[in-house]
Amino acid sequence: MDSNVTMEKIVSLAKRRGFVFQSSEIYGGQSGAWDYGPMGIELKNRIQRFWWKEMTQLHDDIVGLDAAILMHPRTWEASGHVENFTDPLVDCKKCKQRFRADQIDQAKLAKKECPECGGELTDTRKFNLMFKTNIGPVDDGTGLIYLRPETAQGIYVNYKNIVQSNRMKIPFGIAQVGKAFRNEIVTKNFIFRTCEFEQMEMQYFVKPGDDEKFFNYWREQRWAYYQKLGVRMEKLRWHQHGPDELAHYAKDAYDIEYEFPMGFKELEGVHNRSDYDLGRHQQFSGKDLQYIDQDNGNERYTPFIIETSAGLTRQLLMVLCDAYEDQKVADKGTDDDWRTVLHFHPTLAPVTVAVLPLMKKDGLAELAGDIRKDLKEEFATDYDQGGAIGRRYRRQDEVGTPFCVTIDYQSKEDGTVTLRFRDSMEQIRVPRAELESTIKKAIKEYKRA
Ligand code: GAP
Repeated sequence: MDSNVTMEKIVSLAKRRGFVFQSSEIYGGQSGAWDYGPMGIELKNRIQRFWWKEMTQLHDDIVGLDAAILMHPRTWEASGHVENFTDPLVDCKKCKQRFRADQIDQAKLAKKECPECGGELTDTRKFNLMFKTNIGPVDDGTGLIYLRPETAQGIYVNYKNIVQSNRMKIPFGIAQVGKAFRNEIVTKNFIFRTCEFEQMEMQYFVKPGDDEKFFNYWREQRWAYYQKLGVRMEKLRWHQHGPDELAHYAKDAYDIEYEFPMGFKELEGVHNRSDYDLGRHQQFSGKDLQYIDQDNGNERYTPFIIETSAGLTRQLLMVLCDAYEDQKVADKGTDDDWRTVLHFHPTLAPVTVAVLPLMKKDGLAELAGDIRKDLKEEFATDYDQGGAIGRRYRRQDEVGTPFCVTIDYQSKEDGTVTLRFRDSMEQIRVPRAELESTIKKAIKEYKRA
């Protein structure tokens, strides 16, 4: 396994093979925003589906929601974001660069010395990360509205609707995937920290006093999820928030961190948000958000919330980094000795099966087209008839296609094809009629070497 995976290699592959492009590149790019190309959108959709299945299909007590990005501005006062969702910033009066005060050399900060040019720094001030815009025809401040900085609040304001419409009983959860926006000042490291990103959040409503039990339960569940996702578990670790790291709403919080090329960084958070959120929305809206426990003599209480909050786009970066390998495959002493391969779990791979006729002529292309038609009802397929077969395998390895099917002259005679496995590069001969079931079995039994 190549431990030398760098962000440069990931960025380059992502662009070259259509995973991620810089936003508005022809105008010089828009920092903090990225576009997902044909491979990237397939990968993102598959990660999202994997998470959604895990949360809703495999947990009977979790239902889904898709709330609007634009919410009543009082939401963000109640949530504490207007007051507390800030970064401490300083500006250099000389070179005009802006820094996060907590991320620069503290000795220099104390002396008000710019870490880049030695110029004088301004006082530290709080900078709110929420994007503000205006709704309605007049832009005079009366139509102030925010782009949501987290999807969670859409769940809290709908909690009572869902209890009533779906007769949910505590404990239960609500899952949601959607865009979030933060005016991040430091947006380096590709798609790791961006101004526009996607979250996959689940809020689990529990009786006060049961919160620690369910907090531990969700920590275990989230760890098991990454095992199923097929990533290298030795690259993951827990980080508990210390008192000075806890968000304004959190009673306790753990991050799952992944060892990205730039070191261990947060991937997802599991938070015990106590009754902070529903309590605050109750206070600010004047609506009764208490739960009435009809099975327990109509006992009333404000539920505690256990949150699992994952970044979809950050998880995509993790999956890419984790899958990437520059692998030595032969000892010929030529350039062909190496291949770049993405070891995606087959459920996540943008293309599951590539169909490759050995030659275009002699009816092989037609036969391959026919076989692809059979397979595409079940799998995401690609078709490639250009260039030497070895080159075509390499192209598929580079986008992480787990199975290649090659059609040759023998296929015309006996109806068998070659099935090639990406990770081992092993090739087996399979009757056309058994191709679909063989691939399905291999997906089910897939284990990364
Ligand atoms: N609702 C709680 C919440 O939003 P968070 O720790 O601020 O908690 C949760 O964010 C996750 O969202 C992070 O673990 C990360 O995966 C993702 N995330 C947060 N800010 C991000 C950004 N600027 N760019 C990309 N992903 C981000």
